[in-house]
Amino acid sequence: MTIPNQDDNLANEVYKLPIDLIEMDRLALQHRMWCVMIGGLFPTHAADSIHTILAPSDNRRPVIMDVGCGSGIWSTEMAKAFPHADVIGLDLNEQKYPEAPDNFRFVQGDISLGLPQFDALADVVHCRCVAQHVKDPQKLVNILASCLRPGGLLLLADGDWIVYDRDMKLVKPFVWDTTKDVQKQVENAGERSFYAGWLALFGDLTKSENYRPIEELIDASEAFTAVDMHSYLSPISWPGENIPNGRELGNIMNINQRNFFSGAKMTASKAGLTMEILDIWEKLYNKELDSCQLYNVWYYATAQKV
Ligand SMILES: C[S@@+](CC[C@H](N)C(=O)[O-])C[C@H]1O[C@@H](n2cnc3c(N)ncnc32)[C@H](O)[C@@H]1O
Repeated sequence: MTIPNQDDNLANEVYKLPIDLIEMDRLALQHRMWCVMIGGLFPTHAADSIHTILAPSDNRRPVIMDVGCGSGIWSTEMAKAFPHADVIGLDLNEQKYPEAPDNFRFVQGDISLGLPQFDALADVVHCRCVAQHVKDPQKLVNILASCLRPGGLLLLADGDWIVYDRDMKLVKPFVWDTTKDVQKQVENAGERSFYAGWLALFGDLTKSENYRPIEELIDASEAFTAVDMHSYLSPISWPGENIPNGRELGNIMNINQRNFFSGAKMTASKAGLTMEILDIWEKLYNKELDSCQLYNVWYYATAQKV
């Protein structure tokens, strides 16, 4: 299937996911998943460094930036957790931030154009689930580095579009052939997964061809030291094996991924899939989600600006 260029709006030329309230609610739920998975607003292993870097000081207020802040949930929660800091949430699209305290402010902007107004300003820069959506992820990481003061901390996190089974084998995605009979394809699906197929489609749709694993992007920027990379598994609809807080993660992921299908249906229809296929796919996808024992994988890197 060919993926057409969906958007003529320059600011949105790469970002293909929805930006409506339903998607903001889904991102808020996914934020909850991140917090359960990593142990809070930032990974437990980075907590001491973050508290040191953001310690109150008589000289100036610490600055936290959340680049590609989406619903703004991470930034507003950080603003509440660090009331003596100034928190900037930056995104292409402004949303409503009813929970935001006074030390949070939103800045509208396109990261791809650079952020010279924030040069060496921030003590902590957070950028989660954004890098694969921009045309030039390396340039993004270089720009994030430029926003940090020397000694400041980068928190760079991302997901992936692959799915593992309970034995950690990659699950084969189901791929629709729009020229063939729909029912026959379903009958012949075999071991191919409708869930993995949906993620694979969105990987094709949204992932920049220049994307590389986040630790490679950090290394290549040559702006950081003490790079610390962790990966996390989130079980879907089951607790997983030896996964901390697995049951809660499994439940959140079931709802998150259901909402991801219903919320992103229009995006998929623009990629050439008929509503007939999408309606059938959604039923098969939800059925699989409810009975599966699968995992998704997420990556979190912290790094200190030299
Ligand atoms: C998948 S969402 C992640 C949102 C948030 N970081 C989170 O983890 O909940 C990606 C966000 O990046 C923003 N984004 C994508 N490209 C951007 C760009 N060039 N400049 C600014 N923001 C961008 C989108 O508008 C969207 O809000």
